[in-house]
Amino acid sequence: MSSSCQFPAVAIHADNYRFLQEHIHRQVGIVLEGDKHYLFESRLAPIVRQMGLASINDLCAILRATAQPEIGRRVVEAMTTNETYFFRDPAQYDAIKNVLLPSLQRERADSGKLRFWSAASSTGQEAYSLAMLLLEAKISPRNIQILGTDYSSQIVERASSGRYHQIEVNRGLPAALLVKYFLRAGVEWQLSDIVRRIVRFETIDLRDSMRALGPFDLVFCRNVLIYFDAETKIRIFKELHGTLFRGGWLLLGGAESASGIDEWFERRTVGNAVIYVAR
Ligand SMILES: C[S@@+](CC[C@H](N)C(=O)[O-])C[C@H]1O[C@@H](n2cnc3c(N)ncnc32)[C@H](O)[C@@H]1O
Repeated sequence: MSSSCQFPAVAIHADNYRFLQEHIHRQVGIVLEGDKHYLFESRLAPIVRQMGLASINDLCAILRATAQPEIGRRVVEAMTTNETYFFRDPAQYDAIKNVLLPSLQRERADSGKLRFWSAASSTGQEAYSLAMLLLEAKISPRNIQILGTDYSSQIVERASSGRYHQIEVNRGLPAALLVKYFLRAGVEWQLSDIVRRIVRFETIDLRDSMRALGPFDLVFCRNVLIYFDAETKIRIFKELHGTLFRGGWLLLGGAESASGIDEWFERRTVGNAVIYVAR
C-alpha cells in the first residue's frame, strides 16, 4: 500500500484546522503555526480510524458538538512530539558529573539529599540517564530523588514502566550501562529496580504553578519550550526559578531560545554545555 493511501481523502476544512490549532493551544500551550496539515493528518489518522470515522472533519464535529474531554485529550496527546533518547546532549551530562555533583556533594555533606526534576520527561530516558549517572558516581540511592513529569498520561505510564524497545536502548545508551542496569524482557529491555526506585513520574502541565514541587538542585526543561509562545515561556522560566535552590541549575534544549530568562537566571558555559544558574 502506498503511504498516500493512509491519509484521509477528505482535506481538513479551514475552520476545522483553526479549531484544532486553538484546541491544542488551549489544552497544552503548543503553538502550531504555518502549514501543519500533514502533521494533523498523520497524527490524527489513527484516532479517526479507531473511532470508525470518515475524516478529521468528523472528529472535529464530535469535539465541537459535545464536551468530550477524553477524546479532546487523545487529540492533544497525539499532537505532542515525544522525541527523546538516553544521554541526549552529552555535554550537559558531563557538566553535571564534573562540576555540579562535586559542588553539591561538598555543600550537602550533612544532609546528603539531592533532588532533580526532568520537566517534560517524555518516555523517561532523560530522568533515567541522570539516575544512572548518579549511581555511577557512587551516590547512595537513598540520597537521590528524581521527579519526571509530562503532560501526557500515556507517556508517563510508559516512563514509569522503565521498559524500552531495542531501538530505544540503541539511542545514546552506552553498552556498559545497558548490561549493568537492564534485563532482557522478551523483545524489550526492562530497567532494573535500583534505577526505577529513585525516579518517580507524575502528569504535570508546565503551565500550572510548579513551586510546590521544589526545591530542586537541577531542572531539565529541554525541547519543550520551543513549542510555546514567548509569553508562556517567560512565565515558565519564572516558575522554574521558583522551584530551584539559589544557585541551582536549569538545563534547556540545544535549539531553545532563552530570551527573557535573564531576570531569573545567569547564563554560564561549563565545558561544552550552556547552563542557567538560578539567581
Ligand atoms: C520532545 S519531548 C522532550 C523530552 C525530553 N525533555 C528531551 O529533551 O529529550 C517534549 C515533551 O513535552 C511534553 N509537553 C508538551 N507540552 C507540555 C505541557 N504543557 N506540560 C508538560 N509537558 C508538555 C510532551 O508530552 C513531550 O513528551
